[in-house]
Amino acid sequence: HEIKEEPIPQPPTHLFGLLGNFPDMDPSFPVRGFWKLTELYGPIYKLALDKEQVVIATQQYMHEICDPDRFEKIPPRAQQEIRALTGDGLFTAFPTEQNWHVAHRMLIPAFGPLGIRKMFDEMLDITSQMVLRWDRYGPNHRINSSDDFTRLAFDTIGLCAFGYRFNEFYTDEAHPFAKQMGNVLKLSGARSSRTNLENRLHRAEEQERQSDVKKMHDLCREVVQARKSQPPTDRKDLLSVMLDSVDRETGAGLSEENIIYQLATFLVAGHETTSATLSFMWYNLLKNPEKFQKIQKEVDEVVGDRVLTIDMLSKLHYVDACIKETLRLSSPIALIDKTAKQDTYLGGKYFIKKGQSVKADIKALHHDPAVWGDNHDEFEPERMLDGKFQALPPDSWKPFGDGVRACIGRGFAEQEMLINTALILQRFQPELADPGYVLELHSTLTIKPGNFFMKMRRRPGRS
Ligand code: HEM
Repeated sequence: HEIKEEPIPQPPTHLFGLLGNFPDMDPSFPVRGFWKLTELYGPIYKLALDKEQVVIATQQYMHEICDPDRFEKIPPRAQQEIRALTGDGLFTAFPTEQNWHVAHRMLIPAFGPLGIRKMFDEMLDITSQMVLRWDRYGPNHRINSSDDFTRLAFDTIGLCAFGYRFNEFYTDEAHPFAKQMGNVLKLSGARSSRTNLENRLHRAEEQERQSDVKKMHDLCREVVQARKSQPPTDRKDLLSVMLDSVDRETGAGLSEENIIYQLATFLVAGHETTSATLSFMWYNLLKNPEKFQKIQKEVDEVVGDRVLTIDMLSKLHYVDACIKETLRLSSPIALIDKTAKQDTYLGGKYFIKKGQSVKADIKALHHDPAVWGDNHDEFEPERMLDGKFQALPPDSWKPFGDGVRACIGRGFAEQEMLINTALILQRFQPELADPGYVLELHSTLTIKPGNFFMKMRRRPGRS
């Protein structure tokens, strides 16, 4: 049938169009600009930025841009800047790059359910270190939640993925690698919100960024060399898969350069996301005492005071629902970017040209009242229970991205978060350190709670 094309709404541009919509953006917290504009102009609008940018905000449009025949991921500008560190590693690779296909096929089994099960003991090892540290600090210590969950995520990836101990729970200062990474992400983010010309004026900053990248690559190289120089063992982790296997389709292996990019990628993609999710979940639980009681009761019934085993994890349904609901309300990745593979229409009327990038505002998607109802602002883990999660409309819950470029580390993160939450609940009665705390958001590559402190009181009778 004939298409009746309509123009995509656009907020007024500034200075007779010369500044486009740049003044509507907030460089210190880029996503906030999108959130505000979505409220005013959603569910679909376009902006004049360095290129034309379309933004969508509902399940209906999300479902359309998740159609792999019409759209694909091409790394957006911010991710392209991070390529200084992660090159053609999985997260920042262009779809045309051969190494993405080789590494994807090679690593899918290692990140699959069997591969992840094998990591249980090492995940438990790192979480136990965290719990021990909190216990030793005692009930009055203010725990900086973001810091400690970042230590946890870093240590867990280091150990499970490539057998390296960052030992973050044995030092007061974070490992230099963690600091260098924070710096590289911050400076890469800043570069992506400036024009190329402006970037050329920030020479000292760029030297600093490149010097941090080099130090991080050196450490990754050391890890690879250490493994290569060890006598063969039967340890199978992500690093050994990358070093020892060849792609079943092409017979190609991964070069050392690419393996270094992949190591940096796992650390970038996996540490802030996991850490932010855990912090948000504790915020949600401590602000909703009735839900807290439910999660505590479940862990008491399934685990009690026994040693946590892998078979208990699949029985922690309410913990799993709390994680899923947290990822809905507070997705640490706020925007997902897709590019049109062909000329197409959204909603049957808005023209999208081949090569046009469309950003999905994940926060708006996760609050779409057509999917989540009028109480979409509330923390309600029950909506993820009893088959309701499986029955959601397609592409309405997208914290892990989409399609072939969805998060390869999802199972890894979910298992790590289940273990961590079970162990905390088993031993402690967590409290807000500041009972009046109002959620503050910080933004880097991810969105995470700022200045969020907890206290951990040992539960009576728990050792
Ligand atoms: C990709 C979220 C944990 C490794 C992604 C994407 C999202 C995401 C949204 C897609 C990005 C895009 O479309 O541009 C999350 C969340 C996590 C998490 C919310 C934790 C709660 C992890 C962990 C690892 C990891 C623990 C590694 C151990 C990756 C990789 C990619 C990716 C390698 C790129 C996949 C590809 O394009 O082939 N993640 N992630 N993530 N994630 Fe995660």
